[in-house]
Amino acid sequence: MASTTFLTLPSGKRMPQLGLGTWLSPPGIVQGAIEFAIKNGYRHIDCAYLYENEQAIGEGFAKVLKECPVKRDELFITSKLWNAYHAPEDVKPACMESMKMLQLDYLDLYLMHSPMSIKNVKGELMPQKDGKILQTDVDYVDTWKAMEKLVDEGLVKSIGVANFNKCQLERLISAARIKPDVLQVERHPFQTQKTLVAFTKSKGMAMTAYSPLTSPESPFLSGLKNGMEEPVVKEIAKKHGKSPAQILIRFNIQCGIATIPKSQTPAHIIENTKVFDFCLTDEEMKKLESLHCGARAVPWDLLGLGTHKHYPFSKDE
Ligand SMILES: NC(=O)c1ccc[n+]([C@@H]2O[C@H](COP(=O)([O-])OP(=O)(O)OC[C@H]3O[C@@H](n4cnc5c(N)ncnc54)[C@H](OP(=O)(O)O)[C@@H]3O)[C@@H](O)[C@H]2O)c1
Repeated sequence: MASTTFLTLPSGKRMPQLGLGTWLSPPGIVQGAIEFAIKNGYRHIDCAYLYENEQAIGEGFAKVLKECPVKRDELFITSKLWNAYHAPEDVKPACMESMKMLQLDYLDLYLMHSPMSIKNVKGELMPQKDGKILQTDVDYVDTWKAMEKLVDEGLVKSIGVANFNKCQLERLISAARIKPDVLQVERHPFQTQKTLVAFTKSKGMAMTAYSPLTSPESPFLSGLKNGMEEPVVKEIAKKHGKSPAQILIRFNIQCGIATIPKSQTPAHIIENTKVFDFCLTDEEMKKLESLHCGARAVPWDLLGLGTHKHYPFSKDE
């Protein structure tokens, strides 16, 4: 990587602003992608129990840490607590399971994947009955208190949340002993997250933008256009001699937001790092922001959670 920048989290830890996403990277391919990315300068890798590839990613970490002059403390590894493990007694075992698969003895960041708890049924990620996901009503504040203990025990350096709305975040912050370091949400020019960007900044929290390239492979796309084919993005890319993907990544970087484009393709993995050698003008940033239409690549209601008590996207976000 030509260079990268870091965000300082409220806990004082530093998070590389650019990372590699791993959702939909199949186990047979993700190991090679991880090794290639770390060898080419990536230091921040975004994982999750839900993605069902942490075992393969762990093999990639083990290999790269053995073969390359990269030390564990130079890497910033995130995993996420899946919705089925929100009951306080399930939090530590779920974290330990991810760490075991990732072959790590600590995580840099552990995120609550969403505020919506579902039933813990052994061996099932999305337990269902009569075609409906089995929702439960564990309070995310109780889940958070169990996550705070992971920090106390040195298992994770930082904790945060994903897919929370502003009201939920405010409630969490007022109840928390350890404040969330990071909010991870979908962010790109079609979903600019104006309210949450301002709110997290006012609290000194970091934001990580997921699906920065509008997630063209998402199985949940509900009318969202591929941002890399958007004429405004293409025109700005042409002007800077960059690719549309690089413009979309830069859009977040330049706002002081971390971002984690997923790629399993070596040429893309390298291309996506070349975003620190140019600047978008204020006018270009405004043009990109004006594309906001509220569309999401990962709407969560299509996962069957739109009726959940803690569904985050129907209220003020
Ligand atoms: N917290 C959450 O709820 C949540 C939800 C969704 C995602 N995430 C995280 O955010 C990461 C990124 O989001 P995402 O995976 O949804 O989508 P994304 O990063 O917006 O898009 C990934 C897609 O873009 C392609 N791509 C990557 N670089 C490219 C380039 N330079 N040119 C053209 N195409 C390119 C990838 O194909 P190739 O692989 O072939 O390059 C892949 O199809 C995820 O992997 C995951 O780690 C978190």
